[in-house]
Amino acid sequence: MAPTLTKAAPSVEYAARLEHVSKSFTGPAGQQLVLDDISLDVAPGEFVTLLGASGCGKSTLLNLVAGLDLPTAGSISTDGRPALMFQEHALFPWLTAGKNIELALKLRGVPKPERRDKAEELLELVRLKGAHGKRVHELSGGMRQRVALARALAQESGLLLMDEPFAALDAITRDVLHDELTRIWAETGLSVLFVTHNVREAVRLAQRVVLLSSRPGRVAREWEVEIPQPRRIEDAPVAELSLEITEVLRGEIRRHGQH
Ligand SMILES: Nc1ncnc2c1ncn2[C@@H]1O[C@H](COP(=O)(O)OP(=O)(O)OP(=O)(O)O)[C@@H](O)[C@H]1O
Ligand SMILES: [Mg+2]
Repeated sequence: MAPTLTKAAPSVEYAARLEHVSKSFTGPAGQQLVLDDISLDVAPGEFVTLLGASGCGKSTLLNLVAGLDLPTAGSISTDGRPALMFQEHALFPWLTAGKNIELALKLRGVPKPERRDKAEELLELVRLKGAHGKRVHELSGGMRQRVALARALAQESGLLLMDEPFAALDAITRDVLHDELTRIWAETGLSVLFVTHNVREAVRLAQRVVLLSSRPGRVAREWEVEIPQPRRIEDAPVAELSLEITEVLRGEIRRHGQH
């Protein structure tokens, strides 16, 4: 059966909108300003990568967009409830791959008789046909992330938030999953906000790269990536733009005295 996810017609002017968002945490050393005055739109169907040094506040920002935490100042709106995917797959180990996806369908209110077929379709979409009955421990790291992606897609949200989802995978598996994600994004019309500290990954995937500075995190610069898809991480234009962005990122890190 062919996957049934179809390209969504844009119904709002943004998938996510952040207006003057700041976030502070209070710790033993007092108040720490992590994010400072961030304004950012993700357009419907847009693929944006959020790039920055370790500790600059990328996950904090993604958690705010996901509604897992509240900003200290500013406002965030999203078109519906976003789906989330993290570096750790966070699948339930006592459920099979298929049942993990069916659970997400259940939470979305999909009636029981439809869940099995829908889960099979989603597994096919991430090229894991036939894996419905597999237990999580029987799957490779790459396969687990495919299931996690299928589970995120099961939410049928217009906005997918991804926090370094491929960081723990080997380079070749990551390459394959980049291809899969690009294909699924093009097929479904999803909006994606993808966090990474890997410059090449950011350029490989995105239509727009947003660079965050460190301490506090601010939007330092943005790049429109006009290199046609499908791209390869080793393509010359990808390498060239990555080099330019890396230089700016290095400058940011130097400016804030980090290593
Ligand atoms: N719940 C929290 N309470 C206190 N401080 C926090 C909390 N969450 C994050 N921080 C602090 O905010 C800063 C940014 O953390 P965050 O995890 O967002 O960075 P990051 O850019 O995702 O880093 P990495 O690339 O290493 O994942 C860090 O200094 C961290 O210690
Ligand atoms: Mg993080």
